[in-house]
Amino acid sequence: MVAESFSFTIDGIVVQARPGQSVLQACDEAGIYIPRLCHHPDLAPSGACRVCTCRINGRNSAACVTPAAPGMVIENDTPLLTADRRAVIEMLFVEGNHPCPYCVASGDCELQALGYRLGMVAPVQPYQWPGRPIDATHPDIALDHDRCILCARCIEASRMQDGKSVFGFAGRGIAMRLNVDAAGGLGDTQMAAIDKAASVCPVACIVIKRGSYRIPNGERRFDKAPIGSDIEARRARPTP
Ligand code: SF4
Ligand code: SF4
Ligand code: FES
Repeated sequence: MVAESFSFTIDGIVVQARPGQSVLQACDEAGIYIPRLCHHPDLAPSGACRVCTCRINGRNSAACVTPAAPGMVIENDTPLLTADRRAVIEMLFVEGNHPCPYCVASGDCELQALGYRLGMVAPVQPYQWPGRPIDATHPDIALDHDRCILCARCIEASRMQDGKSVFGFAGRGIAMRLNVDAAGGLGDTQMAAIDKAASVCPVACIVIKRGSYRIPNGERRFDKAPIGSDIEARRARPTP
């Protein structure tokens, strides 16, 4: 038996949803973009970044981990929520080292693209200038900890899709860092360049060696269109 669909509203637009969908998934299908960073469509949501926070029935909640429910009233695209999201993105920029103009991910980086989309100009918080080492021990993959935004995508992908548990977090709070499950670095783990975990990083922390400039600057995903425009294009499409 097909479960019955229901509706809710977001910014006054009526969205149809199915039981089991999150708010973010239902809005994606309806062509309404909710900014997000840790969410990946192939992975279970972690709720780590809070960029997708919407005002749901009067309370701030992360859309990627909130189940859609009948009659919900949601605010998404408001000046206040945009400012909150921009503040989160700014904090991530100052917490790591992000020299976009000469980064291998420039134009293909979700953090950078969100900065543009949310109107970030220059962070107001002071830069932390952390000095975290690059792990180049793997023959095919480099791990640049300075770029890591602790989104947990690689942890989920490695554990649930690759069956390897190469990655995990160590420490807590501001001291939390990405760790690999071998003292000798990534090269001592079971990680392979074809693993799902190697393809889900939203920034330039997990980088495939010798593969970074196959698509030249100016031709990359977010050089062509702002992040989220693929989702918004669904709304413009006529229903068959
Ligand atoms: S990872 Fe993204 S945000 Fe960081 S320097 Fe590279 S392009 Fe910029
Ligand atoms: S390495 Fe990439 S995917 Fe993994 S936690 Fe850091 S930013 Fe996220
Ligand atoms: S995308 Fe929802 S918490 Fe990160």
